[in-house]
Amino acid sequence: MTTIGDVAKAAGFSVSTVSRVLNGSGYVSEEAKVRVEQAASLLQYTPNGLARGLVSKRTLSIGLLIPDVSNPFFADVARGTEDEAGSIGYSVILCNSDWQVPREKMYINILRSRWVDGVVIAGARIEEKRLREDLRDVPFVLVDRRGSALADSVWIDNEEGGFLATQHLLECGCRNIVHISGAGDSPSGQARLKGYLRAIRLEPGIQPLVIEGDFRFESGYHATRMLLNGPNPPDAIFAGNDLMGLGVIQAAQSLGCSIPDRLKVVGYDNISFAAYVSPSLTTIEQPSYTMGSAAVKMLADAISNPQHRPTSYEIQPKLVVRKSSS
Ligand code: RIB
Repeated sequence: MTTIGDVAKAAGFSVSTVSRVLNGSGYVSEEAKVRVEQAASLLQYTPNGLARGLVSKRTLSIGLLIPDVSNPFFADVARGTEDEAGSIGYSVILCNSDWQVPREKMYINILRSRWVDGVVIAGARIEEKRLREDLRDVPFVLVDRRGSALADSVWIDNEEGGFLATQHLLECGCRNIVHISGAGDSPSGQARLKGYLRAIRLEPGIQPLVIEGDFRFESGYHATRMLLNGPNPPDAIFAGNDLMGLGVIQAAQSLGCSIPDRLKVVGYDNISFAAYVSPSLTTIEQPSYTMGSAAVKMLADAISNPQHRPTSYEIQPKLVVRKSSS
């Protein structure tokens, strides 16, 4: 049976280059594409992931589990994951759990049954212990979440991020600051809430007010309309992510409430739309693309290095001030 090594030898390129050409992933030169395809055709090579996995114990594929593919934050994580994976000859199987833990568990089992070499898990709620049990010897990296000392993980200090966002609104003179939080069982949402409460409690005489959102545009929109039509409209809203922040802006504008004069708004993620919406959205930067590519680098070492030691990569948040608060 012709192997990928035979094709590489005949074409005069490495196995990873041949894999990128045949998987259509990552950058390859036109010359490599032509010569690899000619060699594969000449040798009548037919890639067989399962057969390849049986021989080399590798399928050169990884899984990526995210909760919401329509959210630009996760789309950027996916982009960084795919670009880095393609550059080392890996393909990516994308799974979208729609924020549902049962779907997360279902996809974890599907990925293991597909013999992926590793899994990048972004924004999931499934417990790390359960991940270890279900994935068994398949390495994984947690993105957007602090893992235990046993897990590779890359995340931002969300408690500090929530504190910075709220402190900025306090420094703008706001005194009735509402936090529209992420989903209640999301580790990142819980951490941002803690940061909000820590900042509010440092200011004598003001009270926290929290409304639970779900990281989607609509929850920010509906919560804001309710608040602005209520008896004690806020002078500022800290939304737990940018999509909810965009919902806040749209709701305020639909009620003729001017931003930032009447209401100041801060989001979280710094997705591309945050800079383009009018007024542009103040937010907390999350280097989502870099988080995805860094996760693949960690995963590649976990797959290939028997002496791999789990790494925790904590990123410090950065406040990006725009027109919605200043
Ligand atoms: O926008 C989606 C949110 O969920 C992001 O802030 C990310 O941190 C994830 O937790």
